[in-house]
Amino acid sequence: MFKTRITELFGIAYPIIGGAMHILSRAELVAAISNAGGLGILASTTFENPEDLRMEIQRTRELTKKPFGINLNLFPAMRPRGVEKDVELFIDEGVPIIESSGTSPEPYVSRIKEAGVKLIHKVAGVRYARTAERIGCDAVTIVGFECGGHPGLDDVTSLILVPETVDEVNIPVCAGGGFCDSRSFLAALALGAEGVVMGTRFAATKECDIHPKIKEWIVNAKDNDTLLIGKAFKLASRVIKNKPALTAAEMEAKGATLEEVLPIISGQLGKKAWEEGDVDAGILSLGMAVGRINKVQTVKEVIDEIVNGAKQILERLKEVVK
Ligand SMILES: Cc1cc2nc3c(=O)[nH]c(=O)nc-3n(C[C@H](O)[C@H](O)[C@H](O)COP(=O)(O)O)c2cc1C
Repeated sequence: MFKTRITELFGIAYPIIGGAMHILSRAELVAAISNAGGLGILASTTFENPEDLRMEIQRTRELTKKPFGINLNLFPAMRPRGVEKDVELFIDEGVPIIESSGTSPEPYVSRIKEAGVKLIHKVAGVRYARTAERIGCDAVTIVGFECGGHPGLDDVTSLILVPETVDEVNIPVCAGGGFCDSRSFLAALALGAEGVVMGTRFAATKECDIHPKIKEWIVNAKDNDTLLIGKAFKLASRVIKNKPALTAAEMEAKGATLEEVLPIISGQLGKKAWEEGDVDAGILSLGMAVGRINKVQTVKEVIDEIVNGAKQILERLKEVVK
């Protein structure tokens, strides 16, 4: 029903990818996305111990017989161990798809391809999408200013970046940043993307193992309840507008160094906030789509609603465009 080069490449029913989310994208959420016809992606950085990561991959495989992927986060600050070790672990565990992000995966492409693993690279600018194509990635995800995680430094929205990228490369393009429902899904396809990558929407699902208070915060949030921090340190992050984020933004604006801000933006405090539900306990990354989410659903409900809603919109558009 939805046939794009992304569904063909990854062997999935719907071109809907659950973008890897550090701490959040564990076996239950990843398997639920794959079981609902999309593609779940495990966040490998959540696991400092490689054996825990291996067990999580095995647990995911027990929960789904469908394809799933794993994120190879190449931001040096996000690496719990050497990149080669992770690549070998992913290959050894037979994970069929790697989603790289952060910096260019060029040094690892030949090993990944030789192992028969598909590689989709996530970028935040058109020039990096061209690099992804040149070095042999099978597909590329372009994320815009709206996205949770790291939107790049240029402040360009998905509406501009997606068609620009589609025009620049021949490999299939997925759109990330603000996509969360049937309307934005179909808009992404209309912009020329062959799939969407959604993070924020899946954070507020029943299968996402974070504290219910954080899900409640998402449901009540408005579109301007996130902000960007870290641009001064050349690592922009879109995070929720809570006390530590506002403090970090204020310090950054006054010229504080990364070392000075680090204690506030520490990953440990963020982990505590996700798990214990104290919204102000640490930095929590989420995208502008928080303003578009008004209920906590199962992953299957989210995906079915997107797919069925898209069909209805197409019917309506047939009446509009004759
Ligand atoms: C809480 C959270 C954690 C994330 N962690 C990662 C990560 O570890 N690796 C990565 O490549 N992207 C990460 N991302 C980005 C997502 O994979 C995805 O690109 C992004 O969420 C898409 O934009 P959206 O949030 O508007 O849907 C994260 C996003 C969120 C919200």
